[in-house]
Amino acid sequence: MNHIKEIIALIVFILLMLWSNGDEVRPQFYKDIKTIKDPNNLLVLVNKFNKLDQDYIPKDLEKLKLAYANDHKYVRHIAKKAFEKLSKDASEEGLQIVAVSAFRSYQYQDQLYFYYVTEKGTNYADRASARPGHSEHQTGLAIDVMGDNGDYNLFEDTKEFNWMKEHAHLYGFILRYPEGKEYITGFKYEPWHYRYVGVTAATKIHQDNLTLEEYLHQNKKA
Ligand code: DAL
Ligand code: ZN
Repeated sequence: MNHIKEIIALIVFILLMLWSNGDEVRPQFYKDIKTIKDPNNLLVLVNKFNKLDQDYIPKDLEKLKLAYANDHKYVRHIAKKAFEKLSKDASEEGLQIVAVSAFRSYQYQDQLYFYYVTEKGTNYADRASARPGHSEHQTGLAIDVMGDNGDYNLFEDTKEFNWMKEHAHLYGFILRYPEGKEYITGFKYEPWHYRYVGVTAATKIHQDNLTLEEYLHQNKKA
């Protein structure tokens, strides 16, 4: 008799899993958050589960040359070298790849997130903007870009975007929030947001169509 209860429970469980069709089996974003211990690591994972300390500012921030940015924008030394080379090489093919947002402090991100919440509501804000401490712009390794149409929101429509799809990894950058991976990254598709991870990781991520989360999971030390 006891077994009947267990069998019914099992059937109910299986039906629930089938009914959810996988869609409901999503990570609980902004739950079980850890503070990042090695923020200077070039492969640092900043997302809805891993946050940077409020005081973290990379020590080697440098200003991008104004030829490659729309204003005074700062990134870490290694990302500056890589981005300036990328943008220079692209310009030699008649393309303009310009940084419109780079390093953002915790405090600035706080204002930005609040702006999105006020303008669009929390649900949309959480798909588009990271809460303070959870933005990889605070690492100094992320850059938002625009192309020749002058609007980063419309970057997907540019020839610069097509070039980035083929070349960004060769300079160590990845498209950080790809289409169809929001359930992993926690953010909607952002054709304009690139993250420096180095050429080896970027090439693997590009070739295998991975997110940084998936790449790091695959390469986790045993
Ligand atoms: N828009 C990205 C997710 C950020 O706010 O860092
Ligand atoms: Zn960005």
